[in-house]
Amino acid sequence: MCGIVGYIGDKRAQPILFNCLKRLEYRGYDSCGIAVAVSNIEVYKDVLRVEALDKTSPRFDGTIGVGHTRWATHGGPSKLNAHPHLDCTASIAVVHNGVITNFQELRHQLTREGHNFVSETDTEVIPHLIEKYYHGDLEKAVEAALNDIEGSYAIIVLKSGEAGLIAARKDSPLIVGIGDRENYIASDVPAILDYTDRVIYLEDGDIGVVTGRDVKVKKAGTDVTRAEHKVMWTVEEAQKAGYEHFMLKEIHEQPRVIRNTLGEYSRSTESVIDLPAMREGGIESILMIACGTSYHAVLIGKYIVEELLGIPVRVELASEFNYYSHTLARTIAIAVTQSGETADTLKAMRKLSEVGCRVVAITNVVGSTASRIASQTIYTRAGPEISVAATKSFVAQLMVLYWIAMAYSKTDARRIAGLLMELRQLPSRVQQVLDEEAKIMKFAQYLSRFENVFYIGRGINYPVALEGALKLKEISYIHAEGCASGELKHGPFALLGVDTPVIAVVARDSTYEAMLTNIKEIKARGSPVMALAEEGDEIIEELADSVITVPQVDTLFSPVVNVVALQLLAYYAAKERGCSIDFPRNLAKSVTVE
Ligand code: F6R
Repeated sequence: MCGIVGYIGDKRAQPILFNCLKRLEYRGYDSCGIAVAVSNIEVYKDVLRVEALDKTSPRFDGTIGVGHTRWATHGGPSKLNAHPHLDCTASIAVVHNGVITNFQELRHQLTREGHNFVSETDTEVIPHLIEKYYHGDLEKAVEAALNDIEGSYAIIVLKSGEAGLIAARKDSPLIVGIGDRENYIASDVPAILDYTDRVIYLEDGDIGVVTGRDVKVKKAGTDVTRAEHKVMWTVEEAQKAGYEHFMLKEIHEQPRVIRNTLGEYSRSTESVIDLPAMREGGIESILMIACGTSYHAVLIGKYIVEELLGIPVRVELASEFNYYSHTLARTIAIAVTQSGETADTLKAMRKLSEVGCRVVAITNVVGSTASRIASQTIYTRAGPEISVAATKSFVAQLMVLYWIAMAYSKTDARRIAGLLMELRQLPSRVQQVLDEEAKIMKFAQYLSRFENVFYIGRGINYPVALEGALKLKEISYIHAEGCASGELKHGPFALLGVDTPVIAVVARDSTYEAMLTNIKEIKARGSPVMALAEEGDEIIEELADSVITVPQVDTLFSPVVNVVALQLLAYYAAKERGCSIDFPRNLAKSVTVE
């Protein structure tokens, strides 16, 4: 949450900072600002989106600067709370992503020492601490300031008269982009893809001095070398490519994402995912942890893995897992996180690692914190996901979970060979769903008139109902609840009626008859029923008020085709309601706070 950026080189910093900030807006977008070193430090910030701030900003000519796009934690969105924050002399500017947990004590102490605060933020203590410790050596002053700070941070420090920017991180991501006689610092790779594909991933405790010519990194006072990496993502992947929104583009990318994952992890008919912990044996249970959409992926993963591996799978919300103790003997943990930076998931991973549990990360972001904590990382090949609502990363996560299950399955070989064949057909099955876009859009326009919607499913499609509801509520602001079909009559039935449509995810598997019964019960209460069903299902055609059809696939793969239809449904409902689809209110993509 919050995106930070820094530039140092021969070019004018201001347009570069704005351009990078536009690409970081998915991390927060309630206010933003820049600071550029001219003869002194010029700051321009406001409660605006980056594009608007860029348009209204005065021109600054300096070649060193920092920028920030905010997701408010301490103090609401306001001009004063927007970053960059300054010290008393207005010669030190700081942008920060993270949370300073002891900021109140520090603020009281600094106030007693004569420092004057103008914002409600935790961040503002940082420039004041640096000011306090500055005696001619900026790096030392930053180091001393960070010693006083508890919490998480990725910061960039700009001081007038200094030839370099200082970058430091602890529990929040930060990268350095290497250019030709210019360097960039950013929260994430997409920010700098327009300028360079060479990056250094800073590690926790690193303090980097970045000039236009070089990057020097120290940890605990000692020089360290951080390898340079070539980024696999392209600029095009981080652009809208003619689509109106990133979300729509990312939904449409899913056939390719599935193919990429297949290419990455399969050799002819075999999966090549190697999990030494599974190979070595002795694993008696699997623990899967995640948040949000990734949590829905692991809920589906539980069905996949239990069916194909016959090992019990426990699924936990990372945010809950962190607050009680667990029995973890002979357990391997799988943490699933698109960003690799979700605070709750990282905390659970650390906790698991500390008690000696092997933790495998499934993440989309190379060099992310999750990949550093995990004993093994499997990357999803979704490419950069910019829209706040996760779509293609969810499908990519499922693909990895399918591969893991198939790689170590004890099920008979014919079943696995059949599944592999179907898996290879999955991109075209997903394309078939995408080809129904115009029809789904019509349903969405109808749905957009309601304020409350239920999504129901059973078995492996219960988490699909949860995910469908999450997608709808987060981008269209329609109140949507996902519910296990069998649970409706245990309470939620009280809310049914003509104004509350129910979207039923129906698969022709062992849950089918029960679903039909549930739909009849719902219809008897007057709720309109929109079914998501397999093509050729005439019974559903007769029973439901409207039907979106998806291609027939093995039940294990039904979440993939069903979820794509529900993503489109949510997208077009939000569009009909004129919502800010890629940047929904109050949200941010990387949830780096607990
Ligand atoms: C919803 C969404 C969020 C994320 C959640 C976890 O569309 O995107 O619910 O899934 O914040 O994020 P990651 O996967 O980055 O850990």
